[in-house]
Amino acid sequence: MTSILESEGPVVLPALLLCDFGHLAREVDRLEEAGAQALHLDIMDGRFVPQLTYGPVVVEAIRKAAGVPLEVHLMIEEPQQSLADYAKLGAEIITVHVEALADPVEVLEEIRSLGSRAHLAISPGTPVARIEPFLDDCDGVLVMSVEPGYGGQAFEPQALDKLARLAAIRRDRGSRFWLGVDGGISTETIAAAAAAGAELIVAGSAVIRAADYGRAISELESLARGAI
Ligand code: DX5
Ligand code: ZN
Repeated sequence: MTSILESEGPVVLPALLLCDFGHLAREVDRLEEAGAQALHLDIMDGRFVPQLTYGPVVVEAIRKAAGVPLEVHLMIEEPQQSLADYAKLGAEIITVHVEALADPVEVLEEIRSLGSRAHLAISPGTPVARIEPFLDDCDGVLVMSVEPGYGGQAFEPQALDKLARLAAIRRDRGSRFWLGVDGGISTETIAAAAAAGAELIVAGSAVIRAADYGRAISELESLARGAI
């Protein structure tokens, strides 16, 4: 599996949520040409979150168009029913919300057994303590810095404390999980997120609403790298 974080520090993962879905393959090409090292796909079911986006059929089209790793961020109820679909489509990272899981360990183990990295997301209202027991069972944690459901919302700074707390736990335990952040990332907020420990940094509107994706990604990445 490609390791996104092989060497050089924090990485920006563009989120496709606000892209031009009428020209999806072209958007994927543009993002890759712009230097995206991985893509973040927001799967919403209209139940776990109010909005409904897309599912495996569209992820398959993205998979065919993309040469870089994919993270599927499952904002859906009963995510365990969809894991095999997304793993079969070659999602390198499958991110599930702890709030949607009755038995996180079982689901994380299943994701790993399907050959994907198992990442655990926490919404703004969920304390780090809720996922502490599962940190050795996952390959990454995604700290939501907005309420999941929509792109273009404002960054919630409480996420910084969570990132710092998780980074400290990782250091103390010698764990290896990756730390991610998702929501409201911009040139104003990315440095603080990276300084708090975020390595996989999801950016939706900050990239997709920019005229030049390449310039947006490199500006964000250099601010993140300058902060650590
Ligand atoms: C929100 C999604 C995010 C979203 C980020 O529910 O999980 O991935 O696309 O968009 P921005 O960066 O605009 O907040
Ligand atoms: Zn997301």
